[in-house]
Amino acid sequence: MRIGMVGTGYVGLVSGTCFAEFGHDVTCIDKDQGKISRLKDGEIPIYEPGLDELVEKQVRANRLTFSTDIKEAVKDKDAVFIAVGTPTRRSDGHADLQYVYAAAKEIAEAITDFTVIVTKSTVPVGTAREIERIVKETNPDADFGVCSNPEFLREGAAINDFMRPDRVVVGTECERAAEVMRNIYRPLYINETPMVITTPESSEIIKYASNAFLATKISFINEVANLCEATGANVQDVARGMGLDNRIGSKFLHAGPGYGGSCFPKDTLALTQTGQKFGAPQTIVETVVQVNSNRQKDMAKRIIEMCDGNVDGKKIGILGVSFKPNTDDVREAPSLVIIPELQAKGAKIAAFDPVAMEEAAKQLDNVIWAESSYDVAKDADIIVILTEWNEFRALNLDRIKGLMKKPRLLDLRNIYKLTEMESKGFVYQSIGRRSLDGENGSGNRLKSVG
Ligand code: UDX
Repeated sequence: MRIGMVGTGYVGLVSGTCFAEFGHDVTCIDKDQGKISRLKDGEIPIYEPGLDELVEKQVRANRLTFSTDIKEAVKDKDAVFIAVGTPTRRSDGHADLQYVYAAAKEIAEAITDFTVIVTKSTVPVGTAREIERIVKETNPDADFGVCSNPEFLREGAAINDFMRPDRVVVGTECERAAEVMRNIYRPLYINETPMVITTPESSEIIKYASNAFLATKISFINEVANLCEATGANVQDVARGMGLDNRIGSKFLHAGPGYGGSCFPKDTLALTQTGQKFGAPQTIVETVVQVNSNRQKDMAKRIIEMCDGNVDGKKIGILGVSFKPNTDDVREAPSLVIIPELQAKGAKIAAFDPVAMEEAAKQLDNVIWAESSYDVAKDADIIVILTEWNEFRALNLDRIKGLMKKPRLLDLRNIYKLTEMESKGFVYQSIGRRSLDGENGSGNRLKSVG
């Protein structure tokens, strides 16, 4: 199949490259001349494990090319995917569709034979129909079908998610378009990947509802974690006990500092806006948005409490600033809320992240960017683990303790064992688990610290 991918951001580049790996001929298109020339030189603009090798392999095999010329790149394609950004519109929280519609118009002007126009970007319900209208209006003679085909890629695991998805969702009312999509995804038949073929509206809602449901699971377990702290229960045991029920499932039940990233915050908000617009309020998701926003601020309070209620002039060491491991993405990361809150209270922040410091430095001021976790620990009054990077799981705790002013560690991802930390002599707190002597977020135990 011949595929055009409009937009070489995260989703477009991963999807285009993986389609090439399926054996299709793919042209990735972007208006950004600099980005396209860098891609042609083999430079990958995003951090995603395995992507650079895969791009190189597909380029060498002549299955993946890059272009800025949408007209040239779109003609003679079986399908053209729209994978441009849909940021949250500042004024009203709705997804901003101007780039999607602009791409639809340009595609309409360029298509020659029958072409399927596919939305890969996360777009609100009704967008596929609007694209159909725009294409007809722009080019009344165009022979085309419109289709919604949402992505479910997790950053850091995107290639695997693309190559081995739980399902493929296709929303179209055009049988010819459905047939093209079946052919595009045919390589997945070998894994018996289920394909849900439905209407565009259902497909569009599937994407938002899936992300909102996962975000709900996270906020749910975060509130349960608070209850565990108040009652002496252990949230990891509770999550395990719940998750073994197949109807619930164990995934996305890890309590933490609140969800971030480019999808959950944006998509939950957009779903609530869509609900309002159609008179079908999404009350549960509205609450989830609120719970998550409070959660990130509460984490800053927790750090302050652990520092005897005052961080003025204290050095706080932060491990991890990306919204999750294996990515340099800091969009909506808890670090962007927590660090400024602490700075406003007079704290000095030293931080280390294996890959996200450059990105974070664009958004955070006055942070001392450290060279390693040990560098962060030097003279620190407390260390806070914000992101569960693998390298933070195996720290030399004796060395860390020796470097710190006070051996206090707040583990917001529950990566250490309570027993281990107590035996190492740390004042240790985590999420939804009391320390062995019964304390959690109160900070009382700190009185015994040096
Ligand atoms: C998500 C969806 O998983 C993906 O299907 C969608 O297409 C895009 O959005 P992503 O944002 O890359 O992917 O990250 P994900 O792994 O889902 O994590 C999102 C956030 O939730 C992170 O901040 C993570 O730390 C947090 N999280 C996740 C938890 O706090 N607890 C969990 O149990 C799982």
